[in-house]
Amino acid sequence: MNSRLDKIVILDFGSQYSHLICRRIRDSNVFCEIYPYSISSDKLKNIAPKGIIFSGGPASVYDPNSPKPDKKVFDLGIPILGICYGHQLIIDNFKGKVKKSKTREYGKAILQIDDKTDLFKGLNDRLNCWMSHSDVAEEIPSNFRVLAHTNNSLSAAIGNQDKNFYGLQFHPEVIHTEHGLDILKNFSIGISKAEPNWTLESFIGNTISEIKKKVGKEKVLCAVSGGIDSTTVAVLLNQAISNNLECIFVNHGLLRYNEEKSVMSLFKKLDLNVKYVDASERFLQKLIGIIDPEEKRKIIGNEFINVFMEEVEKEGNQFQWLAQGTLYPDVIESGISMGPASVIKTHHNVGGLPEVLNLKVLEPLRYLYKDEVKRVAKMLDIPDDVIARHPFPGPGLAVRIIGEVNEDKIRIAKYASEIVEQELKNAGIYDSVWQAYAAVGDDKAVAVIGDERLYGYIVIIRVVNSKDAMTADWTKLPHELLEKISNKITNEVEGVAWVTYAISSKPPATIEPQ
Ligand code: XMP
Repeated sequence: MNSRLDKIVILDFGSQYSHLICRRIRDSNVFCEIYPYSISSDKLKNIAPKGIIFSGGPASVYDPNSPKPDKKVFDLGIPILGICYGHQLIIDNFKGKVKKSKTREYGKAILQIDDKTDLFKGLNDRLNCWMSHSDVAEEIPSNFRVLAHTNNSLSAAIGNQDKNFYGLQFHPEVIHTEHGLDILKNFSIGISKAEPNWTLESFIGNTISEIKKKVGKEKVLCAVSGGIDSTTVAVLLNQAISNNLECIFVNHGLLRYNEEKSVMSLFKKLDLNVKYVDASERFLQKLIGIIDPEEKRKIIGNEFINVFMEEVEKEGNQFQWLAQGTLYPDVIESGISMGPASVIKTHHNVGGLPEVLNLKVLEPLRYLYKDEVKRVAKMLDIPDDVIARHPFPGPGLAVRIIGEVNEDKIRIAKYASEIVEQELKNAGIYDSVWQAYAAVGDDKAVAVIGDERLYGYIVIIRVVNSKDAMTADWTKLPHELLEKISNKITNEVEGVAWVTYAISSKPPATIEPQ
């Protein structure tokens, strides 16, 4: 990222809200990045942020093993804002007292503002704010003043205005805090004097010149799927180094209805030169007899790499770079290690490719969040229906087919999913849900179609609402719409006898069945 860009840095103490703070700061056009809490003050000095934010976190400052920042961070002369646990860290560092509260304070509280000179500049005297904490400040350090209070937190906001150190017991980043964005703006632009020059237009310009500089006369290979991330990467590369770019689209035979056609015509519209590789037969062959979901994912991932390597060889191994659509949440390690998380599902896209192909990696979107990618895509004239399309897993329909993947089940999952998507679009619901599709397994049931007995497949419709795919709720679709979808599937998709609706939320269920 452009090193001349003014930025705010968040030190992450394990808060679920760190990314949210980051997005909110960016919403006011100030660039913001997240680093682990343990980063040294020397490194921070090199990064040279205009302001530093300590995130919240699950620990208590008085626990002997609680995470603490490098003490020298306070000597850098850079403004600091602590939020929740971060607020308590500042109190603790400057010899105030933090103790366990008798009651955990959770939810809305009325914030009474006592000082409107800087952090609360331009705001009302009273604001709704969002609290979530079980420790409170018993004594604030000398040289600090109370800037705002609530009934339960007499020092809900504090500041040492000579040093520009501030602490907030509440969460300005959540929408329940009124004018939370203004408070963060007052810190980043008002107090820290960061220039609000982070715009996606400038991102596009800077990224294109950086790609040109990095790549020079070398050649770049880009795997495209027609999804928003890889399409945006390909369009950016095309604008930067079109003569040295080759895009490859591998059809593994597990795509959505007519997807290979619509994706190739999209590429044409976007003036992208894409090589189409139909490898559906070999993927299908490899999947014969495989019923374990993880094994399926691994086979698809490996076969994808094999197909790709063969194509690279056919092209005479002329590439030095592989471009990928990695996004910011994937590159940020949390400040606190939660320990080795057990693998729930192996996510395959183009994972492992750069190592196998021995190529340098180009990740033009590695600083962006998904909503920012969508805005960039719009500016690059990527059509709205591509931007609004639901996410689709790398292994495609294979994760929506329970048991062995075969042509019959692919056909059913494909057509039934198309019906679900189309009916949601007709009802005006498609854009408001996270994903909508039909899955199929080996279970069968009896139906009477016309005068004939059918022992046919049971199709499972799954429609979920989610913000980030970490958790998801099943969507309470109107019964009439479910009935319409069910009728259409049993009438139009040969071999389907019953239609069911999945009503498990995540957790405990996952979004895809495999
Ligand atoms: P689960 O099933 O884990 O899915 O609840 C969460 C989200 O991730 C998508 N998904 C994948 N995406 N490669 C992907 O790019 C994969 O292998 C993969 N598996 C699941 C899923 O569609 C949902 O949006």
